[in-house]
Amino acid sequence: MKREIVCSGIRPTGNLHLGNYFGALRNFVKMQDEHDCYFFVADYHSLTTHPTPGDLYSNARQILVQYLAAGLDPEKSTIYLQSDLPETIELYLFLNMNAYLGELERVTSFKDKVRQQPNNVNAGLLTYPTLMAADILIHKATRVPVGKDQEQHLEMTRTFAQRFNSMYQSEVFPLPQAFNYGHELVKIPGLNGSGKMGKSEGEGNAIFLNDEPSVIRKKIMKAKTDSGPTEPNQPKPVEIDNLFTLMRVVSTDETVRHFEELYNSCQIRYGDMKKQLAEDMVAFTEPFRQRIAELSADEEALRRIMDRGKERAHESARRTIDEVRHVIGYRN
Ligand code: TYM
Repeated sequence: MKREIVCSGIRPTGNLHLGNYFGALRNFVKMQDEHDCYFFVADYHSLTTHPTPGDLYSNARQILVQYLAAGLDPEKSTIYLQSDLPETIELYLFLNMNAYLGELERVTSFKDKVRQQPNNVNAGLLTYPTLMAADILIHKATRVPVGKDQEQHLEMTRTFAQRFNSMYQSEVFPLPQAFNYGHELVKIPGLNGSGKMGKSEGEGNAIFLNDEPSVIRKKIMKAKTDSGPTEPNQPKPVEIDNLFTLMRVVSTDETVRHFEELYNSCQIRYGDMKKQLAEDMVAFTEPFRQRIAELSADEEALRRIMDRGKERAHESARRTIDEVRHVIGYRN
């Protein structure tokens, strides 16, 4: 496989959930063995929700710990805080000059935010896709491991990159692609019958990597179900299909097959299925819980990792910004 430049990030707005893991983080860990990787904590992006100064660093640190707990290795990848790389902001400014109001207003995630938080529709939300494009293009990345919900942002990144190249008749930026190993981009469903596992989708919807076993069991037992199939081989209603999707990511094929058969023969008892799913989730998350606790305790090691990541990210970003400034016509 060709060695690519890879870049991606996650917003520090709480603990990481299984959606973040299966949509993004799992790929980060795998890609670091094969490619040149830049993984950051998106702590500029989190400002759209106005965290307090006290929360800003501790939230970012928490995500860094969870990156490491999942297996990101600072020897293999460049791991850094987005706010340690102000070159990103310079590129954001340049990209914003060629991003148009109409196209930014049509972005699905922006329209969702307008609906969810009508009293805080700030310009940062509107230009979220240009900041994201800057994150990626600052390293000239070609592959971006993300979940399905980020597909449109990647499309916009390509639009901005292409527009910049053609405006300055240059080939500064490659056109990056969203990436998931060998498959379609992933969308992990939530536990409350909603389509997506997410932090803002309501209480009990997400399983977090550091949830205690008792919390996991409680959340799964509360997941929405119905009264069960009445005829063999019926299509599954959304909330049941969601449970099977979750089972497919943490349980063995044999377990999934067993419950599929029970469903198709109308013998399924959702209580049993949920118990099994809960135990498989507890087993799956166990190593994360342990490593998160260990890594959190070592502030000095975390600082060293951040400093090193900052330095390496800076080298790559500086090269791009120098080239961009030259192409735009600024004095060198
Ligand atoms: P964020 O912080 O909302 O989510 C981080 C990553 O997790 C994925 N994800 C999911 N994947 C599958 N199923 C789900 N239920 C699910 N929920 C979340 C997201 O697709 C994402 O990959 N804009 C980004 C952060 C970002 C970024 C970037 C990503 C900023 N700059 C540059 C890549 C490149 C975001 O808000 O992700």
